Amino acid sequence: MDTQTYREAYRRSLEDAEGFWGERAQALHWERRWDRVLDASRAPFYRWFPGGRINTCYNALDRHVEEGRGEQPALIYDSPVTGTVARLSYRELCERVARFAGALTAQGVARGDCVVIYMPMVPEAVVAMLACARIGAVHSVVFGGFAPHELAKRIDDARPVMVISASCGVEGQRVIAYKPLLDEALGLASHAVGRCIVLQRPQAAAALTAGRDVEWSPALESAPPAPCAPVEATDPLYILYTSGTTGKPKGVVRDHGGHAVALAWSMEAIYGMQPGDVFWAASDVGWVVGHSYIVYAPLLAGCTTVLYEGKPVGTPDAGAFWRVVAEHRVNALFTAPTAFRAIKKEDPTGALIARYDLGSLRTLFLAGERCDPDTVHWAEEKLRVPVIDHWWQTETGWPVAANCRGLTPMPIKPGSASVAVPGYDVAVLDESGAEVEAGRIGNIVIRLPLPPGTLTTLWQNDAGYVDSYLKRYPGYYLTGDAGFIDADGYVWIMSRIDDVINVAGHRLSTGGMEEVLAGHPDVAECAVIGVSDSLKGQLPLGLVVLKAGVVRPAAQVQQELIERVRQHIGAVAAFRHVTIVARLPKTRSGKVLRSTMRAIADSQNYTTPATIDDPHALEEIAEALKTLGYALPPAAPGR
Ligand code: COA
Ligand code: AMP
Repeated sequence: MDTQTYREAYRRSLEDAEGFWGERAQALHWERRWDRVLDASRAPFYRWFPGGRINTCYNALDRHVEEGRGEQPALIYDSPVTGTVARLSYRELCERVARFAGALTAQGVARGDCVVIYMPMVPEAVVAMLACARIGAVHSVVFGGFAPHELAKRIDDARPVMVISASCGVEGQRVIAYKPLLDEALGLASHAVGRCIVLQRPQAAAALTAGRDVEWSPALESAPPAPCAPVEATDPLYILYTSGTTGKPKGVVRDHGGHAVALAWSMEAIYGMQPGDVFWAASDVGWVVGHSYIVYAPLLAGCTTVLYEGKPVGTPDAGAFWRVVAEHRVNALFTAPTAFRAIKKEDPTGALIARYDLGSLRTLFLAGERCDPDTVHWAEEKLRVPVIDHWWQTETGWPVAANCRGLTPMPIKPGSASVAVPGYDVAVLDESGAEVEAGRIGNIVIRLPLPPGTLTTLWQNDAGYVDSYLKRYPGYYLTGDAGFIDADGYVWIMSRIDDVINVAGHRLSTGGMEEVLAGHPDVAECAVIGVSDSLKGQLPLGLVVLKAGVVRPAAQVQQELIERVRQHIGAVAAFRHVTIVARLPKTRSGKVLRSTMRAIADSQNYTTPATIDDPHALEEIAEALKTLGYALPPAAPGR
């Protein structure tokens, strides 16, 4: 337990950032000590621990084996969808990673090369990530629920020398063949990938392309295990693409040194975990939560991590989470509020909870979307442990605001993500860039430099990094979230300020969906807005104007549009609602009034903008939304 109180740690992290993080860095093994902790000479491009040489994989695996933790489980794979539970000790995981790293080297992957990983939640996905880190290759994991077009976009931006994939994923009762999706993506991409390694799973066999594809097991056969290659602390460890305002995903770049330091410390300071504890992040390795808190942080901290291939409900029932907690003696569970809403819906009284011994569970952490107080209260009442809402983003890689369990636990205010975490100087600015008073809503920003472990830039796109995050308020990072800080310093995240929506904890771009709809030959113009949903937090709703002269039945066009989004973005977009309208409400300068439409759909107060072109267009949309069952009083069923 860190003996510093939260306030001391917070003050020191800002007033003496180099001293603070330099001390935290000593918890890790460095091949060469850094020249200095923070290099601000190229601000706003800050670098942590320049001159230092480190290997993240060594710190996550080998170090623990050498220090006597070899027989402790490093990873527990629990897969109700395949009926499997497997435990890998630190020694076993280290050996597997070293061997796969050897296979990567034998297949020609070298330090600095990019490798795309498109895999379901199997231990091999973790092995592939750590093997890349071991040899200094840069991985880019793409979430399995994305369609070939999205995978192709990422391949074209990351330009990998190799893709690692599997024959299939298992979603509930369904087997989803991944290899045809990969083949389609490789066909769509303009960047040519020379080599693919494919894990054949028993649920489906993948057809291989001769000369390009190699199976996982034979790839391992002749390759000697690879040692850890020390890399520069400032070298890229991974790229993770996330949704922005357009259909072009942003490649967030994470470094080795700062990332390892911040994540190792966060396990203790934020999550209150000690080496040997069992940590379960019920997310997916394709998202940032999976990168940070399924893979890197728990292993860097010597904990046992749980890799769960299943859902909160339906695999087989709403007691699935409690079974996993009880069976593996989980000490902390981290998931998205939507998972709890799904469980609450199926088991409102929590009857299934009573069947399991949850005595090991100390804390529940929620993040990924705004958590409604009802869900917090339900979870607190049923689990009888502190429920900690905390706020972060793909870009930051670890929490910006949280109730730090390893420092001084603070009173919980449901609906707030608690206070700024040490390292993050959070502020709320108005449109002019002035800091607003406590309690007033504005744009949430973080004063530069960002702490270690956050993004260093966008992949081969420094200008895009500045444009998206730093240009709006010089000297600050723009989070893209709006909210306020109250008089006690608690941060309240209220909404996004851009066209990003959050569907079941998954971050998606409505701009990206609009691009897909606009590509349909019958569509003249369109808007996609995120409307509130009692289960998934938000759902996308498409409003489409057809070209003059289109006489095809509306239902047919709607079905084609739904299918089109599924084909281009993926099932994960949950795009099921689209309606044909006569026109879209706009300002006189032609800007579509998306946020006004969203407010109407969610039955919130709104004012008709003074710059509106034709107020009747807004009235028509309000009527159309009512017909669809939106824009109803908040208590109405189903929304
Ligand atoms: N590979 C292929 N398809 C996938 C996939 C994957 N890895 N993950 C999701 N999908 C598909 C699903 O099968 C579903 O397809 P369908 O429309 O054909 O049914 C679609 O994408 C939407 O998936 P999901 O968001 O999981 O919704 P759901 O209705 O199947 O389940 C919840 C609802 C609430 C149970 C689920 O969203 C959930 O567990 N959420 C937790 C969120 C989470 O972990 N977020 C990570 C951030 S912490
Ligand atoms: P992602 O990059 O996918 O992790 O999504 C990050 C976004 O999810 C943030 O910018 C917020 O909009 C939202 N988010 C994450 N955690 C929270 C939270 N605890 N409360 C409210 N919104 C959150």
